[in-house]
Amino acid sequence: MSYLLGIDIGTSGTKAVLFDGRGKTLESALYEYPMYQPKVGWAEQDPEDWWKAVCYTVKEVIGKSGLNASEIKGVGLSGQMHGAVLLDANDNVLRKSIIWCDQRSAKECRQITELVGAKRLVELTANPALTGFTASKVMWIRNNEPGIYEKTKKIMLPKDYIRFKLTGEFATEVSDASGMQFLDVPNRKWSAEVLDKLDIDSSLLGKVYESPEVTGKVNKPASELTGLAKGTPVVGGAGDQAAGAVGNGIVRPGVISSTIGTSGVVFAFSKDINIDPQGRVHTFCHAVPGTWHLMGVTQAAGLSLKWFRDNFCIEEKRVAGLMGIDPYILMDQEAERVDAACSGLVYLPYLMGERTPHLDPDARGVFFGLSARHNKNDMIRAVMEGVVFSLKDCLEIIKDMGVAINEVRASGGGGRSRMWRQMQADVFGSEIVTINSSEGPALGVALLAGVGSGVYNSVEEACEASIEVKTRQGVNTYMTDKYGKAYGIYTSLYNSLKNEFKKLENE
Ligand code: XUL
Repeated sequence: MSYLLGIDIGTSGTKAVLFDGRGKTLESALYEYPMYQPKVGWAEQDPEDWWKAVCYTVKEVIGKSGLNASEIKGVGLSGQMHGAVLLDANDNVLRKSIIWCDQRSAKECRQITELVGAKRLVELTANPALTGFTASKVMWIRNNEPGIYEKTKKIMLPKDYIRFKLTGEFATEVSDASGMQFLDVPNRKWSAEVLDKLDIDSSLLGKVYESPEVTGKVNKPASELTGLAKGTPVVGGAGDQAAGAVGNGIVRPGVISSTIGTSGVVFAFSKDINIDPQGRVHTFCHAVPGTWHLMGVTQAAGLSLKWFRDNFCIEEKRVAGLMGIDPYILMDQEAERVDAACSGLVYLPYLMGERTPHLDPDARGVFFGLSARHNKNDMIRAVMEGVVFSLKDCLEIIKDMGVAINEVRASGGGGRSRMWRQMQADVFGSEIVTINSSEGPALGVALLAGVGSGVYNSVEEACEASIEVKTRQGVNTYMTDKYGKAYGIYTSLYNSLKNEFKKLENE
């Protein structure tokens, strides 16, 4: 039997999962770390925390499995996208990584748009300049911390820093590189024109691979720290969204996924490059060689419910602790006690600004329609509904771009809630299915490792061999009508408030 390892460097923690050659989980381990928010809208993490987490979790899964490390045929890396990791000439990390949800770089987005030209930027990188993407973060560092920028010799993404530590290779792959905004997305290589116009030296960026390609082998120091066998191949892997999509079987037309993790994502496969001229959804290279994907992103999906849990559900956390269950189970039960559409209470999940459909880093979270009859249960439910409305915004744009939608696969932490899945079925007006594995990104990159190490011939074959539909939840049309009215109010609220959001820009 061949075994494959998937490592996902997430925002709340790193997860390593060991799979057998059919995608069945043998062992998994998680290691959590903090996210620093030195100012409103800023978000940073320490790359050394990621590396420590990788060493710990990989050692843990190999140890628990009892396998000889040489039986692991390949390693795949997935990670939170867009973060900027900067190394100096001695390969030391120069500052904490400014990560995907950081919103400080609005000015730099204007600068990028001016330097490259709005239309040309979309032609080359398939996306408008966004605060979430790496390019504006790098420009912010150049504008605000010139001493650090001058010392920078390598710029890399979070999971590619782990690749560097594991193999010594300075490399990336097309799916994650698409989110840097330095890649020529239609042609799957660094854009000389963008780099030239932004005055970024191409030597600062690593070699670009397709996702299943072998990019290097585990070296001796990394083998000692992780327990992996020296020489184990490490494939390109993928950004967490493309990785999660492979782990959900989103590798052919018609099947799309709706993921509620920290962020929320609606993800669709595309055989050809298909760009929204308004840039409301991202077009990136997919982890299936020679294909692309569209994705709409809600910045604060699971993050919204976690924020509510941590600030207002102390009692649920305490009781859940005594019962030995997840506090979200109690919160689901509370949300179920109130009516759908929450008697007029609507939540906008813009706690970290918003990408799809507004592309507005200044947008803020809102509870609208509160009355004295509302209680905490309504507020929990409104948060869950607001997140699903935001995912519907993503879905509608993707539909308008001519993408056929035959099946929606729910995933991510939020996809584990039966109630949140039913809400998606009813709000989207589309059956929601789940598959046999909930490992998403870790499974996706383990399958890519399987392709790179010759266990499978293609990504499609790997998915076919390991992924099957497990549950189906149909649409309750009565609820669809009820939610339809609330969604109408939800969509009009942003326009009513966008000028007020701007006034809070520096608060
Ligand atoms: C995708 C995105 C997030 C992060 C963190 O564009 O920003 O999904 O990758 O999960």
